[in-house]
Amino acid sequence: MAEANLRYSPRVYVAGNTGMVGSAICRKMSAENYCVIKPSTRVDLTNQNDVNQMVSELRPDWIFLAAARVGGIHANSTYPADFVYVNLMIECNLIRAAFENDVKKLLFLGSSCIYPRNCPQPIKEEYLLSDYLEPSNKPYAIAKIAGIIMAQSFSSQYGCNYISVMPSNLYGPYDNFDLKESHVIPALLRKTHEAKMSGASYVEIWGTGRPFREFLHVDDLADACLFLMRNYDSPELINIGSGYDQTVFELARIIKEVVGYQGEIRFNPAMPDGTPRKLLDISRLKALGWNPSISLRDGLRLTYRWYLENENVARK
Ligand SMILES: NC(=O)c1ccc[n+]([C@@H]2O[C@H](COP(=O)([O-])OP(=O)(O)OC[C@H]3O[C@@H](n4cnc5c(N)ncnc54)[C@H](OP(=O)(O)O)[C@@H]3O)[C@@H](O)[C@H]2O)c1
Repeated sequence: MAEANLRYSPRVYVAGNTGMVGSAICRKMSAENYCVIKPSTRVDLTNQNDVNQMVSELRPDWIFLAAARVGGIHANSTYPADFVYVNLMIECNLIRAAFENDVKKLLFLGSSCIYPRNCPQPIKEEYLLSDYLEPSNKPYAIAKIAGIIMAQSFSSQYGCNYISVMPSNLYGPYDNFDLKESHVIPALLRKTHEAKMSGASYVEIWGTGRPFREFLHVDDLADACLFLMRNYDSPELINIGSGYDQTVFELARIIKEVVGYQGEIRFNPAMPDGTPRKLLDISRLKALGWNPSISLRDGLRLTYRWYLENENVARK
């Protein structure tokens, strides 16, 4: 406690504080005794005037930009206009407002899914924009890439200290369990749980189960984001992941075990698989001294427990 009080304590604003990533960053910052500030009511971050006013009133020293329109394959292909428009507007408004209000440091969240579809594996930071994108989430990827370029451009033209991170697939408390919106882990946890409760003999999963995916618990991500805010001052991208991957088939097997479901897992190869493999090279982050600490199995157990305790408030 004494050490925390002696440390320079920036005023911190987390855009997207109600979401999975934003709430994890807020929990981490509060646990570390940072001064976390937020507007008294929700501000629509696509509205430039409202964002300018909010940032000039809050006067944060640090901004974590974790607000975004986010979703899985189904949401991306159903709402491409929302994915490109909302994300571009949020980034434009917040990055510009940060600059105009002398925010000392900003962390922008990209995503591993915006690297080219057929990247060599594991994916190094320099592979961004080196080949064609995955078609199913192109509008989201283009918007997110624009955010990274914007953060880098403000850094190079005006000397701002804006950093951009590329997290792998995330999961944890406050994830979105709505089957039309969700990513693979919340979708599988919910489907498997409901199959267990209803006594269904099988759970159906989109795709072949063959793609490889890397996952990181959101509390590890929040820890890495704070670590980078303290220790990293370069506009060069930096990957944040667990450093290992497994097939969706293997993931489904672990989830079945964590949930305690006795039925069968069936794959539906008629539905899209998405990118065949997505494993981040996290050597740049490890060289700085950060390592993940939550295993996939433990993280899934924690997330399932959170879901059971919060079933009535979880997004679904
Ligand atoms: N989830 C993943 O697996 C993953 C992986 C890599 C990177 N990321 C990145 O992490 C960031 C956060 O993702 P997440 O999973 O935490 O998403 P999330 O749970 O859906 O949270 C999104 C947050 O953004 C806010 N938001 C969206 N539109 C807004 C608007 N117009 N005005 C104000 N707030 C708005 C939401 O608030 P309201 O609910 O009030 O709209 C919510 O707080 C994103 O930049 C994403 O690209 C996520």
